[in-house]
Amino acid sequence: MEIKIRGLKKRYYSEGKVINALDGVDLDIEANKIFTLLGPSGCGKTTLLRCIVGLETPDEGEIQIGDTIVWSKEKGIYVPTEKRQLGMVFQTYAIWPHMNVFNNVAYPLQNMKLPKAEIAARVAKTLKFVQLEGFESRPSTRLSGGQQQRVALARALVAEPKVILFDEPLSNLDAKLREETRKELKTFLGDLGITAVYVTHDRVEALALSDTIGVMNAGHIVELGSPKKIYFDADHQFVADFIGRANLIPATITEQGEAYTFVDTAVGPIRCQKRSFAPDDELVLCLRPEFIEFGKVEGDDVNHLDGTISQMSFVGEMYETEVDVNGIRIMTKLDPMTRYNEGDRVTLNVKAEQCLLVSK
Ligand SMILES: Nc1ncnc2c1ncn2[C@@H]1O[C@H](COP(=O)(O)OP(=O)(O)O)[C@@H](O)[C@H]1O
Ligand SMILES: [Mg+2]
Repeated sequence: MEIKIRGLKKRYYSEGKVINALDGVDLDIEANKIFTLLGPSGCGKTTLLRCIVGLETPDEGEIQIGDTIVWSKEKGIYVPTEKRQLGMVFQTYAIWPHMNVFNNVAYPLQNMKLPKAEIAARVAKTLKFVQLEGFESRPSTRLSGGQQQRVALARALVAEPKVILFDEPLSNLDAKLREETRKELKTFLGDLGITAVYVTHDRVEALALSDTIGVMNAGHIVELGSPKKIYFDADHQFVADFIGRANLIPATITEQGEAYTFVDTAVGPIRCQKRSFAPDDELVLCLRPEFIEFGKVEGDDVNHLDGTISQMSFVGEMYETEVDVNGIRIMTKLDPMTRYNEGDRVTLNVKAEQCLLVSK
């Protein structure tokens, strides 16, 4: 089911101050796709999720799930959480340690007072789906972190919700398990094919899992798009910066050519992917380290930057390398087998199509 959010506002009052946790959110979440809310801590992600679920009452606006308006201040509509047909997985697994796996997963169905045989059949089916067949009588305390997470997922799915929502579900797992569980989750969600709303502050999770990412900052959705759109083609500095490592250099347009936009920057004149802006927009050039090549490559569409390698840090799969160009430190990458050294004079090449102009 799709989700429509209009003009959603939520204020908190804390120590005499007003916090605009949601400051007018408009958002359409497509049916049967994976949508991720990505943003820094405190930007309002959990608040938005809790408003959709019905655990939090907004101050203004409207929320529609499928054809049903579940909350509207103007129309005086409030549909309680249990009638919204949602499943939710929280940051802490929130599975009950005193219950075994079966009872944890069966809980929502027992609450609905379904017949015992039906509960058993649905729990079995769901446990099979999350690959925990045969774990029914295992005490929850005797599960690994990843297995506990799958129990939480099973419990969210067992009542066959129309939408499943996740609030940073992997953040309590260590790095390796986190990656494994993320991949599992991608498979589960792909097989499930229902609308999923996923909240995270982790850009890799967002990129890897989502059909669409909504980048949030300070109670607003700043930008919406596919992972590739957000990564390669962001409109705003905040988004370009949050989604990956980027050199961000203030720029002013000198000429709008037919194929390129020409700008002036502290690292020299640069030919960029063509883009139009409002006249008073402050612009920033975004150069991702992985698009910067060393050694001089000729070509009309290539920018050259001359500089000196100021720092190389070996981090395993590469050297994180900083090159000083006119006093500006440019983050780049070098192969671990590179023959370059600190202090070398180098020419950097960046293709115009990989020079992205964003607004500040
Ligand atoms: N119950 C609350 N009382 C007061 N302030 C709150 C409450 N819940 C959240 N906030 C504030 O609202 C803002 C958004 O919080 P939250 O939605 O939890 O952000 P996120 O999930 O993106 O980290 C933060 O500034 C947070 O401190
Ligand atoms: Mg949160």
